[in-house]
Formats: sequence, C-alpha cells, structure tokens
Amino acid sequence: MPPLLVGRRVLRGRTTEEGTVPAVRADKLYKVFGKRANKAVELLGDGRHRDEIKQLDVTAAVIDVNFDVKAGEIFVVMGLSGSGKSTLIRMLNGLLEPTAGTVEIEGTQITGLPPAELRRLRSQKISMVFQHFALFPHRTVLENAAYGLEVRGVPREERLVKAKESLGLVGLDGWEDHLPTQLSGGMQQRVGLARALAADTDIILMDEAFSALDPLIRRDMQSQLLELQATLGKTIVFITHDLNEAMRLGDRICVLRDGRVAQIGTAEEILNDPANDYVAQFVEDVDRTRVLTASSVMEPPIPVIDPSHGPRAALRTMRENQTVSAFVVRRNRQLVGAVREGAIGEAVRNGVKELDGLVDGDIERVHPDTAVADLFHQAAESPYPLAVVDGDGRLVGVIPRVTLLAALAPIGSGDDTGNGAGGGEVAADGEGDSSVKGADEGGATAAASDAPAAEDTDSAAARASDGPPEADTAEEGSER
Ligand SMILES: Nc1ncnc2c1ncn2[C@@H]1O[C@H](COP(=O)(O)OP(=O)(O)O)[C@@H](O)[C@H]1O
Ligand SMILES: [Mg+2]
Repeated sequence: MPPLLVGRRVLRGRTTEEGTVPAVRADKLYKVFGKRANKAVELLGDGRHRDEIKQLDVTAAVIDVNFDVKAGEIFVVMGLSGSGKSTLIRMLNGLLEPTAGTVEIEGTQITGLPPAELRRLRSQKISMVFQHFALFPHRTVLENAAYGLEVRGVPREERLVKAKESLGLVGLDGWEDHLPTQLSGGMQQRVGLARALAADTDIILMDEAFSALDPLIRRDMQSQLLELQATLGKTIVFITHDLNEAMRLGDRICVLRDGRVAQIGTAEEILNDPANDYVAQFVEDVDRTRVLTASSVMEPPIPVIDPSHGPRAALRTMRENQTVSAFVVRRNRQLVGAVREGAIGEAVRNGVKELDGLVDGDIERVHPDTAVADLFHQAAESPYPLAVVDGDGRLVGVIPRVTLLAALAPIGSGDDTGNGAGGGEVAADGEGDSSVKGADEGGATAAASDAPAAEDTDSAAARASDGPPEADTAEEGSER
C-alpha cells in the first residue's frame, strides 16, 4: 500500500496567542446515573469496567472521555446503542451536568455556569439536530426554521429572512408555507438542518440525525452536510451508530465502547491501525472502497514524459521503467495526455520525430477526493492507469487497476471474505443503512473476492489477470 494521505478538508481554527482554541473540549468527562455516582467515578477512574460496579446500583454512561474538537471539523462519535453517545452530546451542550470533568465551548468552561448564562451561551454558540426532527407540527416550515433565532430574541422580520435563506441552502425553496407533515422524512430533516443553520451558531451537534432516513435519502443528506460544511465551515459533532456514515462524514471519529473511548482517529487511521481488537472487529466489514479515496491509494506518477521529447526518448523512458504506457506532463505538472508503447514504437519505426499527434488526450481523470468505489467504472473503461488530477489540472498520482484491487483487501487480515460491500452496521436493531450497496459496486464485490488479502501489488497483478471481467488487466499486466 502507498502511504495514506489523511485529512480531506482544511480545518479552520480560531487562533489566540496560546494557539488554537478547540471549538469543543471534553476533559476527563464522566456521567454516572444513580445515587452513588461519585463512588462509581472513583472506581471507574481506577480502570474498572462499568459492569464491575453494578453493586453500586449506578449506570455509568460516559467514562473518562477526553477530546478536543477543532474549529471547522466534523467530529463523529460512533458506538453501539447504549455506549453513551446521547449522554455525551447532552453534556456537550450543557443539558446534562457531568458527574465529573468539564466541558469547554470555544474556550469557555460551561460546566458550573449559572443557568441563565449557560442558556445564553448555548443559544449563541450551539445548535442541535435530532433524529426525530423535533419540528413543531402546527408551525410552518419557515417558522420552524426560524425557531433558533426566536429563542434568541431576534425580531420576527429578521429571523424569517434568515430562515428563508437557510431553507434555500438545504434545497427547500418554495416549501416555506407548508406544514412539516406535508413533507417527507428527508425534507423534514432538511428543515431541522435549516433551523440549525439559521441560528448561525459556530457549532452544530447532531444526534443520529440521519438514522431514521431511508438509505438513499440518508446518503443525500450526508453529501449535503459535507457540502454545507465545506462552504460554511461549521464545527459539527455528529453522532451515529453506523460505521460507514462515520467514515464518510468524519474528519475524525471517536469510537465509544461501554462509555469509554476506544479510539479517536481519522477514518484511515481507524481502518488501517485499529487501537484494539474491538475496533478491529468493527471495521472488519467496512466498505473500504467508500472510505479510501483516490489520493489514499494512488501511486507516484512514474515515469512521465515531457511533451517536448520525441517518440524515441518516450519509448526509451517507457522501456527503462518497464511500462507499456506513460503520462505526458508539462514542467508545471499539467497533464497533457498519455502515450502507449505500441503506437510510439510504430512511430519510431516510421521515422516520426514529433510526439504531437501520438498523445492521447482523452484519458480518464479523477479528483484526489473521489471514493475508490467510484473509480472502478472508469478504471475498467481506460487502457491507462487512472490519472489523479488536482483542481489545477496537475497530475498528482496514478492508479493502476491492480492497485485498485489491492486497495480492497483488508490490511493485515490473512483471509478475505470478499464482502467489501457488506456494510459496517454496528447496531443490531435493524436501523440499517444499506447506503453502501450502490449499484456500481457489483464489480467491486466480485473483484474483492478474487483479490489477494495482504499480498504485494505484483502478485496482485498476476492474480488480477485472471480476475473478473470488470477488472480485466490482462492487457497491461506489466503497466507498473
Ligand atoms: N437519565 C438516565 N438515567 C439513567 N440511565 C440513563 C439515563 N440516560 C441514559 N442512561 C443510560 O446510560 C447508558 C448510555 O445511554 P445513551 O447515552 O442514551 O447511549 P446511546 O446514545 O449511545 O445509545 C445506557 O445504559 C442508558 O440506559
Ligand atoms: Mg442515543
């Protein structure tokens, strides 16, 4: 595997003299329900599991949780039902008082604040989006979207203008005067999101906000959230029990298990370097093709050919590198096209002196952020490795088809069960998200069952040549 590039979005941070102030900080945070909560915290602090303190007649929901959420980050908290996610998020917005530890919002400790001050800070800095939308049934969509501003005492005219804008952002133009019941579930949740946006807080907390939606609508909402976050730069703490959702949305993911943090890391870190067996088991079945992006599987573009070189030099470069094709790239790394050994060889025999006219400009280009799942179709169509091209048209990497196949294999596992598209649902409660089963993934799944698990790419190449038709690389098995 090539080194993984992490961090899909640029994080913005409010900086002070001491450095960047986290948008949200949880510091040694505990929530224990029951009379003997403090005794429980003591024992839990010594490392006891919450099941070991049952005799105290308490429920330890959140145990010694520590993290900083950076401004502009999507921080996902993921865990099974009962792992403490909702309790945690309710402490983050001050609705629940921690048993021990503190919460800071943009540098202000909210734990222990007088109620009025807490309410004011919350309404200015934090919005919530809930699973079941929490809309007022007898108010219009517009009034619902304006609710956060109403709480803050913003005059009616002003808040309705803001709310209308936000409804536009989530694609609900024209629905302002409808009642929530006239909207589908997905649209109702858009209203919930619009309400959070209208409130114009830096921080949005979302508790299983998409969990009640149909898989396709859910995927839509995830895409929209990513888009909105990229343009608006909100800090989002997103709670889910769905691993694929977590991996898709999270700049970083915090895995909770029985109230404790099992791991905090990027999707790639969690996938490739799970902190323990528990996390490893979680990610075993995750759809890697949805998590890994072109930039995380691409290889350095070697060799490349300068457009000013003649066919003879191009041929020599390809032969030296033992490849049957090469990309043509200007000095500033602008991608011009690609050439194939066969055509170049013939041109040399015919005495052609110019590379012009031999360069195939119509090649498959992909963006570094494209999910691997979305690369298979293009890879199958193209006689060349995929060219990974940044927003400025520069060639930043290449993806031979064998690399794509190798990316499907779970790291470090000796066997591959071939369920690359099997989903990463962690809950057993049937709230399933089948969003991972895109129609384009038949090829990926088939390929996965044939792909070697932890072999190197060369042996993958050998295997791939008798692989499924979608991934037929027989023609340029030697393209590396
Ligand atoms: N108000 C409460 N009183 C007692 N126990 C609670 C309360 N709220 C949550 N719990 C318990 O705390 C644990 C974590 O719950 P919760 O935070 O809702 O988990 P999640 O959101 O991950 O499903 C569960 O065992 C739950 O029953
Ligand atoms: Mg919950």
